[in-house]
Amino acid sequence: MRPHFFTSAVWSLSRLSTTSATLTSSSSATALLRASSALRSLPLGTCNPQRLFVTSSHQCSAVKPQPRTAASNPTTMATKTGTIIDLIKLRRTIYGLNKELPISTDRVQEIVKDALRHIPSSFNSQSNRVLVVFGADHDKLWDITSDVLKAIVPAEQWESTAGRIASFKAGAGTVLFFEDQAVVKKMQTDFALYSDRFPVWASQTDAMLQFTIWTALSAEGVGANLQHYNPLIDAKVANEWGIPETWQLNAQLVFGGKTGEAGEKDFKPLEEIYKIAGV
Ligand SMILES: Cc1cc2nc3c(=O)[nH]c(=O)nc-3n(C[C@H](O)[C@H](O)[C@H](O)COP(=O)(O)O)c2cc1C
Repeated sequence: MRPHFFTSAVWSLSRLSTTSATLTSSSSATALLRASSALRSLPLGTCNPQRLFVTSSHQCSAVKPQPRTAASNPTTMATKTGTIIDLIKLRRTIYGLNKELPISTDRVQEIVKDALRHIPSSFNSQSNRVLVVFGADHDKLWDITSDVLKAIVPAEQWESTAGRIASFKAGAGTVLFFEDQAVVKKMQTDFALYSDRFPVWASQTDAMLQFTIWTALSAEGVGANLQHYNPLIDAKVANEWGIPETWQLNAQLVFGGKTGEAGEKDFKPLEEIYKIAGV
């Protein structure tokens, strides 16, 4: 159990309220609309542009690079070449979700399973574990979260908390990300020299998986946001869905049809965050 559970959950809640305030920002919505309409109209050879960041059964061929024409707007730029980087730029936090998925539940599962299988891990240790819940099970997850929070959130804050949980429940499904601590412990035993690194590397491979699934869903028009109600909900989740004791919950990616667009996003100047050498 990690000690920061309460602050983590509260932080998560407060992040949502901050970003929700910008959901209706017209400039953001306009940028995103421009981006998605440009994406739809791209002449990308035999590729469906919504399928560029996907798995072997959906590989594209003959992707024609497109010239960049709107270099000042990263969101608009994201539509111009059809590369993985462009799709990474299109992935955003979407809080306005509904149950109308633009792709099938089978396709969601295909994305999740392919990502789970192909994400790299230290020593190929494969510590990532995933539970995907749809429909009534998704609703149950957020009912559980609501019950847990109601017991600890001050009464005067309950209304806004309940609203946020309702917005997650309004989605179509949730991907729950776990680390198998049995794998981490075995790696620590087998490779004692790196013992203190394995928990970090397990967290890093899980982060890669979270990001890949989030981006792949976004590339197919699915909205999603990332939540952290662990470890508050761990025991009830484990009990409800028969999760092994060694699986430690790390994050919840809520997804669904989009009813809103992403908020404005600031970017630190590259000079502050990037160095180059040797060229
Ligand atoms: C490691 C990590 C943890 C995050 N945790 C939360 C969270 O608990 N609740 C939430 O609403 N958003 C969470 N986010 C989403 C970030 O707030 C969001 O990605 C960031 O503001 C950038 O916005 P974008 O996703 O639209 O690019 C998290 C993101 C990352 C990478």
